[in-house]
Amino acid sequence: MYEAHWGLSTRPFENTPDPSFLYRTPQHEEALGRLLYAIEGEKGAAVLSGVFGCGKTLLSRTLLAQLDSSLYKIAIVTNPKMTITELLLEIAGKLGAQNLPTKQSEVLKNVVWDSIETLLKNNLRDGKQSIVIVDEAHAIKDPEIFEELRLLLNLQADDRFYLTLLLLGQPELKGLIEANKQLAQRIAIGYHLQPLDAAETAKYIQFRLKVGGQEKPIFTEEALKLVHSYSGGIPRRINQICDISLLTGMEQGVKKVTPEVVKEGVASLGV
Ligand SMILES: Nc1ncnc2c1ncn2[C@@H]1O[C@H](COP(=O)(O)OP(=O)(O)O)[C@@H](O)[C@H]1O
Ligand SMILES: [Mg+2]
Repeated sequence: MYEAHWGLSTRPFENTPDPSFLYRTPQHEEALGRLLYAIEGEKGAAVLSGVFGCGKTLLSRTLLAQLDSSLYKIAIVTNPKMTITELLLEIAGKLGAQNLPTKQSEVLKNVVWDSIETLLKNNLRDGKQSIVIVDEAHAIKDPEIFEELRLLLNLQADDRFYLTLLLLGQPELKGLIEANKQLAQRIAIGYHLQPLDAAETAKYIQFRLKVGGQEKPIFTEEALKLVHSYSGGIPRRINQICDISLLTGMEQGVKKVTPEVVKEGVASLGV
């Protein structure tokens, strides 16, 4: 749409978790390093928290891309708002269980449990580490589900966890975990992502433009500052504002995105 006008080969500010667009701020680097440490150090569980749009899902996708699939079996649950049985079924299925029953009943839960336990043991025997990533874990409102996740961590052999559990979610996740003391004690690693500061926001925007195919600056210094103040440094909002600013600038036929362009773009969003 506006790519030709700005000399871009692809749209740089799409809100999708594409690892090639990851800008490694010191925070994102540290968060990634900690999640990797939890996995490689065979820790039981780790938590990554941060407000909506700060990069948690993107980091989980980056992590996946880095892990050697011959060494890991990974289950990612992206929408954990389900019953305990549904959640266990999803985990079992994604860890590779075959022929899982689909009808729900109390008995079924035990069947799924047995299946997960067997799977985890088999993975270990085959030299594969099992990883369960629960994204949007703050959406879990039923304490029983956190308890079930804790019980998964109880499966251990010779002081080794059968699996590593990564919980990702918005800041309230920390309180939800604290409510289950035994689960909280199992969390070996944690990290909280903060919004970007003004300097990081500017570098983030320039980085994404470069990945999009344009190395020359498109936004003026003042426009970059304004994007930071409108977005609060939250990547998802930065993307939205930069995208609408590029569109607005093209419509106006200008060669640079100035604060006026950003203002007009944001006003047209009506938010
Ligand atoms: N460090 C980063 N580098 C590049 N893009 C990022 C970064 N952090 C977040 N984003 C982008 O912001 C948007 C929202 O990120 P996401 O991972 O979905 O946030 P969360 O899961 O925390 O709500 C995505 O399009 C993502 O690509
Ligand atoms: Mg997310």
